[in-house]
Amino acid sequence: REAKAASASAFDFTEIEAGVDETHHVAEGYDADVLLRWGDKVFADSPEFDPANQTAAAQARQFGYNNDYIGFVPLEGSAEHGLLLVNHEYTNAELMFPGFAMVVKEKIEKEGQEPVEVEKVKTGEYTRDLVDIEMAAHGGTIIEIRKTNGKWQPVLDGAMNRRITVDTEMTLSGPVAGHDRVKTKADPSGTRVFGTLNNCAGGFTPWGTYLMAEENFHGYFTGELTREGEPEHPEAANYGRVGVPAGWYNWGAFHDRFDVAKEPNEPNRFGWIVEVDPMDPNSVPKKRTALGRFKHEGCETIVNPDGRVVTYSGDDERFDYVYKFVSTGTFNADDRAANMDLLDEGTLYVAKFNEDGSLDWMPLTHGEGPLTAENGFAGQADILIETRRAADLLGATKMDRPEDVQPNAKTGKVYVMLTNNTRRKADDLNAANPRAGNAFGHIIEISETGGDFASTRSTWEILLRCGDPSVAEVGATFSAATTANGWFGMPDNCAIDADGRLWVSTDGNSQKATGRTDGLWAVDTEGEARGTSRLFFRVPVGAEMCGPLFTPDGATLFLAVQHPGDEGLATYENPATRWPDFDPALPVRPAVVVITRADGARIG
Ligand code: FEO
Ligand code: CA
Ligand code: CA
Ligand code: CA
Repeated sequence: REAKAASASAFDFTEIEAGVDETHHVAEGYDADVLLRWGDKVFADSPEFDPANQTAAAQARQFGYNNDYIGFVPLEGSAEHGLLLVNHEYTNAELMFPGFAMVVKEKIEKEGQEPVEVEKVKTGEYTRDLVDIEMAAHGGTIIEIRKTNGKWQPVLDGAMNRRITVDTEMTLSGPVAGHDRVKTKADPSGTRVFGTLNNCAGGFTPWGTYLMAEENFHGYFTGELTREGEPEHPEAANYGRVGVPAGWYNWGAFHDRFDVAKEPNEPNRFGWIVEVDPMDPNSVPKKRTALGRFKHEGCETIVNPDGRVVTYSGDDERFDYVYKFVSTGTFNADDRAANMDLLDEGTLYVAKFNEDGSLDWMPLTHGEGPLTAENGFAGQADILIETRRAADLLGATKMDRPEDVQPNAKTGKVYVMLTNNTRRKADDLNAANPRAGNAFGHIIEISETGGDFASTRSTWEILLRCGDPSVAEVGATFSAATTANGWFGMPDNCAIDADGRLWVSTDGNSQKATGRTDGLWAVDTEGEARGTSRLFFRVPVGAEMCGPLFTPDGATLFLAVQHPGDEGLATYENPATRWPDFDPALPVRPAVVVITRADGARIG
């Protein structure tokens, strides 16, 4: 059976060994070259990377930190020349700033036990300069790249090259634009926002725009929304549902808008999908509020057979939801300009995965069911600002952390990565989230009825329960042909290549969790080999694998190595690896890796 399953596989490469070490590994016969690292020039006149003397001004002209989503826009129809679109999700101050973080010993006392001494990483005092570097290292990069003599290179004088940061001017567009709940002291119009935050995965539209998904925006806000003795602030429940203010960063100490006591509506201006026209470096990015406000992992788009545009998004939080949006207007392949505001008008749906394998896409439309003024929704803008609460009222299925949701145009299927949820209790299981203490996650396959991506009643099944199949109690369901290297935990991002094949990248594998680093696995979805997985690429210690993206000809694969070296008590001085430079004078650096074959043939 094993031989048969292997021969039925849609993939043809020799898988690599799973494991943990300081560098990356790719399947034999492939080249894996570092294309862009944190601090690299994005413009011909960008300053050289000088980590000991970094400034916000330099960072705003250099490649940002923690590359995540990757998109590619072919230029002049070429698969060897285009624009690379890269999200910079977040920053690791302890790995970025020399002398800023230290390993300290701390005594921890647990009741009834002797105090124990533990080591932890403690960061120093934030200054405005450090905060401004962090803000400039967030956002995105648009950069021209070209394959010359078989190797991809950045084109530093590319006319479209651009850095997007937390200072970039954007507009709020769609039903929430101009609403009272998004007005601030700096912006009484409620339409003009600076920057985008925590852009995790994203998407690329059929009309060639770049979608940046705002994910964990709550982490950037500090301050007290309601002071003692005062009545509760009107946004308190809204912010409570998304975790604002979480205070992961110290930006509020230097920039009032990140302090909710000073600017209570600013958090309502984040948590959206941002659409950027990469062909015009002066274009003003638009936050498409019709797609809802939550912790968007990504936003992948497909043109439905009837011409409407459908986008899919996961809301990455334990017990949150899977969404899709169906545009009112239709895609016009002959008139790019006619498509530029398609994402402003349409219907947002949330998924209910029924026990019998059917799936209801429930509309989040004002006036329908419980989505009324009696429940605090005066209009559609309120539903979009508080998307999660509206979905709660509809009884959507609470999922095990939805990450990427990827439609496959070749098969009409849609793949949902559910990364893990260790808080899932045995008495709270459902067919779509069937494992208690789900440490390794699973992948759901949706079949939209009749290939109609706008369908409101479809079916679903679980493609894979992840984890080590040799440990019976894990309950993993990889095929018998999957080797000890081929299984994985914690699916996160995924890609469908030009041949309709599924590739899955992971976040959370480690020596401790699974005895292997994160990486990229090729997963068969069709025929005899369905459920067979093979390891193609693995990251250096401490990193997660993001951004898998194939060029349209399938000959190039771009991968984002995010937070390398971030393992254990890692600091700037003592990272778990110094990938990719391995130079003692340089810090570990997140980087985009490009995979090709010497003969230029299709990957995998
Ligand atoms: Fe930024 Fe859902 O990972
Ligand atoms: Ca990530
Ligand atoms: Ca992710
Ligand atoms: Ca993740």
